[in-house]
Amino acid sequence: MNSVPFLASVTIAVALVVQPGCNDKNTPLAPAPSSTILPPAGMEVEPLRGAAQASGKLVGTAVPSNLLSDARYAATLGRHFNYLTAEYEMKWDAIEHTRGSNDFSAGDTIVSYGQANGMQIKGHALIWHGSVPPWVGALSAAELRLAFEDHIRSVAEHYRGRVRAWDVVNEAIAVDGSGLRDTVFRQKLGDQYIADAFRLARQADPQALLFYNDYGGEGLNQKSDRIYDLVQGLRAQGVPIDGVGLQMHVSATNPPSADGIAANMSRLASLGLFVNISEMDIRIRDLPGTVQARLEVQKLQYHSIVGVCVAEPRCDGVTFWGFTDAHSWIDAQFGADDPLLFDEQYAAKPAFYGVLDAFWRR
Ligand code: XIL
Repeated sequence: MNSVPFLASVTIAVALVVQPGCNDKNTPLAPAPSSTILPPAGMEVEPLRGAAQASGKLVGTAVPSNLLSDARYAATLGRHFNYLTAEYEMKWDAIEHTRGSNDFSAGDTIVSYGQANGMQIKGHALIWHGSVPPWVGALSAAELRLAFEDHIRSVAEHYRGRVRAWDVVNEAIAVDGSGLRDTVFRQKLGDQYIADAFRLARQADPQALLFYNDYGGEGLNQKSDRIYDLVQGLRAQGVPIDGVGLQMHVSATNPPSADGIAANMSRLASLGLFVNISEMDIRIRDLPGTVQARLEVQKLQYHSIVGVCVAEPRCDGVTFWGFTDAHSWIDAQFGADDPLLFDEQYAAKPAFYGVLDAFWRR
């Protein structure tokens, strides 16, 4: 199979891409011989961005800036996606690792790449406990207030006019949804740091849509109730918030139900907010069964969850947290897995077709 030239018939190309080519941990693939002619990355299948556009949605992915110069990575990215998020480069620690000196170069690389390739940009994330620069811990409350204001203002002003939206506050609710997460911001600035962040972001970039973003509250549960309460309160106070991002880092053994996600999106939409799926991936390592069976389960879950966004008029799009299993944060965070739409050789997985069908409403 590997020796078939890529310009052979479409039938053969399709047969190539539906092979369970991802690196199943039980049956690792042998590396391709160096003389093999591989199909061009992700080029043998219909572009996802066309299907998404037909349904009025954006289709996005997180990217690290260092991979944009990899030709195979860039070819698949450019063919399938029209919305880009920096995986790390626009977080506070990445920009202001040294106090008082903002380095926007890596984020700028991503923005320029997106603009050159007809993609919109989602800024991510202004305030997140997971990307606080090391020097912040030593600040007094008054010093943190100044640093917090300066950070939001300078970053949102720098990217003004170039980002469609910002994740302004990320993961501010406790893991179990019992209340606000205990972060340095809450401890030193008080609970109103969330409202303050949105107001500062709006002042610095009046055109960008401003999102609250979190995980674990995708369906209906205690956490999504707290997220709902938070954003309803912000709306009631006139705080400038435009939407909620549902991260959707899902395990296939226990995914949120499509009905629950739909009901949750619908109640957020009824507050006048937009919603989106902001960081989707589906882990399959704990599923029982053969590789093929696990990839099929993953496909069905991608299909059903993306289909919820497609059916919700206030859902503006779906962003995946990467697109090739060769580069996913999941491996380091949860153990080796195959959570994305393309395998490690950039061939479209069954999951890809699940998403494609969802955008086409079939
Ligand atoms: C992760 C990135 O994928 C990693 O590369 C980085 O080291 C840490 O952050 N929720 C979020 C994202 O909102 O910003 C996180 O991204 C994944 C979880």
